[in-house]
Amino acid sequence: MKRVAILLSGGGSNMVALAESMTGDHPARPCLVLSNDAGAGGLAKARARGIATAAVDHRAFGGNRSAFEDELMKPLLEAGADIVCLAGFMRVLTDGFVSRWQGRMLNIHPSLLPKYKGLHTHLRALEAGDSEHGCTVHEVTARLDDGPILGQARVPVLEGDTPEGLAARVLVQEHRLYPAVLRRFAEGDRRMLRLD
Ligand code: GAR
Repeated sequence: MKRVAILLSGGGSNMVALAESMTGDHPARPCLVLSNDAGAGGLAKARARGIATAAVDHRAFGGNRSAFEDELMKPLLEAGADIVCLAGFMRVLTDGFVSRWQGRMLNIHPSLLPKYKGLHTHLRALEAGDSEHGCTVHEVTARLDDGPILGQARVPVLEGDTPEGLAARVLVQEHRLYPAVLRRFAEGDRRMLRLD
């Protein structure tokens, strides 16, 4: 059974989708939900589900990212994590941290990568006049929002869409895509999954 740690900074709806998927004959189980913010809504949701949680406040490290990551690494190692899922974790990780988890760390990003790395993806897709948008799960490598793509789900852009409305429809697909990719990944299957 693989042990999965989930890192988040916010409300944790993707964490909930991942955690709820890891039951029955699923080859993995959640071992830890970890945040850079002790007040993150996702931590409370994890606790309510009986999942171990930890928080390491990045602000205590005054911009020293590797010192922050050294602290982040401790609960991950203590929990015996085999796979790390970034799920709305809004800190950029250094090459050193990423290389320690390379091949074992996934991220979900709210765009059809390689389009719209970084922030404000929904607004950027609308401003570009795109007819479709979506989300991507990829392996994390040293470059931001890069690395082998493991799955994508597409969402049509509708007439009169707002960034908020589009984001909400993409999020519904995130909750389908991430659990589906994690399950395959935990089974050793890294072929790309397309959901429409
Ligand atoms: C999700 O839309 C996720 O794709 C995005 O943050 C949101 C977290 O929501 N991630 C990024 O933008 C990473 N660059 P959640 O806390 O409800 O899962």
